[in-house]
Amino acid sequence: MTDKTSLAAGTFAGARARIQDNASRGLWSSRWVFFLAATGSAVGLGNIWKFPYVTGQNGGAFVLVYLACILLIGIPLLMTEVMIGRRGRANPDGAVARLAREAGASSRWRVVGWLGGLTGFLILSFYLVVAGWALAYVPATFSGGFAGVSGEASGELFGALLADPLRLVVCATLVLAATMLIVGFGVRGGLERSLRFLMPGLFVLMLVLVVYAAIEGEFAQALQFLFVPDFSALTAQSVLVALGHAFFTLSLGCGAMMVYGSYLPEGTSIAKTSILVALADTAVALLAGLAIFPLVFANGLEPGAGPGLIFVTLPIAFGQMPLGQIVGGLFFIMLVIAALTSAISLSEPSIAWLTERFRISRTKAVLGSGLVLWLLSLGSVFSFNHWADYQLFGKTFFDTLDYLTTNWLMPLGGLGTVLFTGWVLQKQVVSEAIGIRSNGLFLAWWNLLRYGTPVAIVLVFLNLMGLI
Ligand code: PHE
Repeated sequence: MTDKTSLAAGTFAGARARIQDNASRGLWSSRWVFFLAATGSAVGLGNIWKFPYVTGQNGGAFVLVYLACILLIGIPLLMTEVMIGRRGRANPDGAVARLAREAGASSRWRVVGWLGGLTGFLILSFYLVVAGWALAYVPATFSGGFAGVSGEASGELFGALLADPLRLVVCATLVLAATMLIVGFGVRGGLERSLRFLMPGLFVLMLVLVVYAAIEGEFAQALQFLFVPDFSALTAQSVLVALGHAFFTLSLGCGAMMVYGSYLPEGTSIAKTSILVALADTAVALLAGLAIFPLVFANGLEPGAGPGLIFVTLPIAFGQMPLGQIVGGLFFIMLVIAALTSAISLSEPSIAWLTERFRISRTKAVLGSGLVLWLLSLGSVFSFNHWADYQLFGKTFFDTLDYLTTNWLMPLGGLGTVLFTGWVLQKQVVSEAIGIRSNGLFLAWWNLLRYGTPVAIVLVFLNLMGLI
């Protein structure tokens, strides 16, 4: 073979590899599917489990600060992540590295990508455990286990679940297996089918719960608690939690939206879709708050009770309302599916990274990461029983993982992403990639990205460290 032909063969092989690459990566079949998938990622335990309990713990002006964080930091960053993914067409690490190369910048920026993937992986390890609680509540509710329970009895039932490591491990393992099966078969097929009925169904059930809570619960008190800000109760810590929660609920700072953006066809409006995703996500969270707090107050429960809040509160409602067994069972099924669609997006950045960076098969990547996730999830399971007394700064393994990933790693990942986009990439390239047609709107977003968002994140960090 002459040099020329081998070169040609090499180029051909390269081109073929690239085509195969793109084919195996695949694209969402339409922008509607992307919207569903991104909403599926955003809407999950964060909205229904976490939002009510962190609001209960932080009270006062928490909801207001959280909404401000969504608007000023969350939405601009969501647009940025989707844009980086679509432009880079690779896993977060590869996409950031590619854009950095194009801009002639150091490839060290890829740390933004892989740190995100790692954060997502750590979050998933405890997310599975909470999704497992929801799964355990499906048969418990259908079988009438909560008929007529009082607040106290419901708390005891939840306590009994936490004290039973075997049940927790079985449930978390089932959730993990389901996640990995869907991810193993490719994200699109599995997701598309489950999302079509899930989102509308979940929304309708949330509305039913809100109506029930409005009739039976202390609705006015809940409205006051959620929406009338009391700034005296606002601490630096609760501002950090609000910021972290805005990241968590919109799936930011951990590569999830980047990797979903990497499957987004050209020509879809990133800005419009991101705003719609954020609206849907916020609506579900607020509905969850409106469903839960009237019941908390009516049953003399403690709003700041922590991670068990919905698992103690909602069964009381299901135990009393007509057809509660069925409504409740369906609710927990939907919660598990909502958690699954988020779990998938938490694992996809690292799976895509393993297959694209190291060229290992998807099956191997899924099995390997599944095993590591399972081992890590045991740490969270034991935080509630065997290891409950092992604490670091007053926090169990579960609490520490949650606190570190949500409140520190995600905002840090977000900070890296906005600095990279606003200060390293060229304005021209970004403007083309984001595809906002109106110049005024583009400039508003661009300036928020360059100045507003990073300054806000840094201020929250400095404030918390007591430096300002
Ligand atoms: N946003 C999801 C929820 O609210 C959790 C999540 C975080 C998903 C980060 C993906 C990435 O439940």
